[in-house]
Amino acid sequence: MRILIIYDTVYGSTAQIAGWIAERLEGFAEVTVTVAKVSEAPNLADYDAVIIGSPIYRSDQILESIKGFVAKNKEALAEKKVGIFVVALDTGGAYYFGRFIGGPEYLKEFAALFAQPPIYGKVLGGELVPPKLSDEDRESLLNFYRRVKGMEVDEVPYRCSMDKLEVWEYAARFYRYANR
Ligand SMILES: Cc1cc2nc3c(=O)[nH]c(=O)nc-3n(C[C@H](O)[C@H](O)[C@H](O)COP(=O)(O)O)c2cc1C
Repeated sequence: MRILIIYDTVYGSTAQIAGWIAERLEGFAEVTVTVAKVSEAPNLADYDAVIIGSPIYRSDQILESIKGFVAKNKEALAEKKVGIFVVALDTGGAYYFGRFIGGPEYLKEFAALFAQPPIYGKVLGGELVPPKLSDEDRESLLNFYRRVKGMEVDEVPYRCSMDKLEVWEYAARFYRYANR
C-alpha cells in the first residue's frame, strides 16, 4: 500500500506528528510512505491512501491551505482511503451557551469538506511554545487566556500534549481500517 501524508503547520508540531505517523506506518510490511507539506503535494494518482492533517489555528479553524487542497482534489480523494487528523490544544471541547466548540467539533467540520467521508479521524494533542510565537499570535492568545479563561498572565503559558503513543495508535488504526 502506498500511503501519502499531507500536512501543513505554522509552528512545526503538525510536521513532527506527520513524521511519527510515517514512522509507525513504515513498520508494516508492504507499505511505502511519503510525507509532504501541502504546498509540495505530489500527484494523488500514485497513492492508494491519503492522510491529511492540520493544526487548529485562529478562530477554531483548520488551515486554509488544507481546505484548499481538499477542495482542489475532491474527486481524486473520493477514490482513496482517506484519514484525517487535527492537532489542537483543546482536544476535548466543551459546551458554551448552547453550542459545542472544540475537540470533536473540529474533526466534524474537517470531515464535512469531503465528498466521501474519511475512514478514520482523530484530534491529536499539540504544542504551544511561547518564544516561537509571532507578536500577533502572542497578543491574540494572551487575549484568549485573559478574556476567555480569566487568567491573569503576562506571557502565554507553555503547553504540550503531544503524545507519540497516541499518534502511533492513530497510525496503526488507520492502517487496519484502510485494509478492510
Ligand atoms: C494563534 C493560535 C491560535 C490557536 N487557536 C487554537 C484553537 O482555537 N483551538 C485549539 O485547540 N488550539 C489552538 N491553538 C493551538 C494549536 O492548535 C497548537 O499549538 C498546534 O500544536 C499548532 O500546530 P503547529 O505547531 O503545527 O502550527 C492555537 C495556536 C495559536 C498559535
